[in-house]
Amino acid sequence: MIGRLNHVGIATQDVEKAALLWQTFYGATQVHEAFDMPEQGVRVKFVDLPNSQIELIEPLGDHSPLTAFLAKSPAGGQHHICFEVEDILVARDDMRAKGARVLGTGEPRIGAHGTPVIFVHPKDSGGVLVELMQTPMEESL
Ligand code: CO
Repeated sequence: MIGRLNHVGIATQDVEKAALLWQTFYGATQVHEAFDMPEQGVRVKFVDLPNSQIELIEPLGDHSPLTAFLAKSPAGGQHHICFEVEDILVARDDMRAKGARVLGTGEPRIGAHGTPVIFVHPKDSGGVLVELMQTPMEESL
């Protein structure tokens, strides 16, 4: 049902410092400008890899969902993985029909790539927060 791995989300205290690590140690050449997503409470910076992307996210504002995560893991760490799906509503209904818990109301919101996304509860994915992102397959990377 799911398509390609689109990105791996990594929480960090500072997206610029984290991006530098990916450049210095792993030779990432494509590093995008950071941008704020105030409604999500995160600042985002994408680092391109040969077949995927790293989504660096740092807390933004007083009510960021990353604050608690980074309190537990001050050095940062893997926050979620994101897979592409063709139709976000079909994917959501399919996940629910299988008994998986979709976070929030289940209404898709616009993610960092400007397309609708949902999140599936880590308890239904072996402890991994899974983001599903609508991306027509023919327009993939
Ligand atoms: Co993401």
